[in-house]
Amino acid sequence: MAIERTLSIIKPDAVAKNVVGEIYSRFEKAGLSVIAARMVHLSQQQAEGFYAEHKERPFFGDLVSFMTSGPVMIQVLEGDNAVIKNRDLMGATNPKEAAAGTIRADFAQSIDENAVHGSDAVESAAREIAYFFTDDQLCKRTR
Ligand code: TYD
Ligand code: MG
Repeated sequence: MAIERTLSIIKPDAVAKNVVGEIYSRFEKAGLSVIAARMVHLSQQQAEGFYAEHKERPFFGDLVSFMTSGPVMIQVLEGDNAVIKNRDLMGATNPKEAAAGTIRADFAQSIDENAVHGSDAVESAAREIAYFFTDDQLCKRTR
């Protein structure tokens, strides 16, 4: 198995519900370690840049206003197959289609307010991690 890193964001709806700790607990139980974290209230420019790949999609404006509506918790997760493992913990984009026991099934209400972001590939993870963290902000874990 490959040790990977992935970018996770706990979105404004989940921060407002005060379930940051419950979501962290799921990462930890799955063997993912937090190696960097910060809470941020994203600016419009930060949110637009982060989701630039979606800028032509009809939901882009709503996505940016949601992501800037309150603070988010941003973390880098590290562990075996971290990218897929985090996507499995998250569940499907639309919480109505998310498997029981996933973060989105348990904490999200709709496709546009769906509790968490997770990188979808090792390449996008590297880009997204660098968007929010410098290399020296990524901690080495002793495990
Ligand atoms: P996407 O990258 O397709 O989903 P995921 O977060 O599972 O990787 O879309 C990014 C975000 O855009 C998604 O989490 C919520 C929002 N979104 C909508 O609001 N409506 C939609 O129809 C889609 C596809 C996404
Ligand atoms: Mg995506």
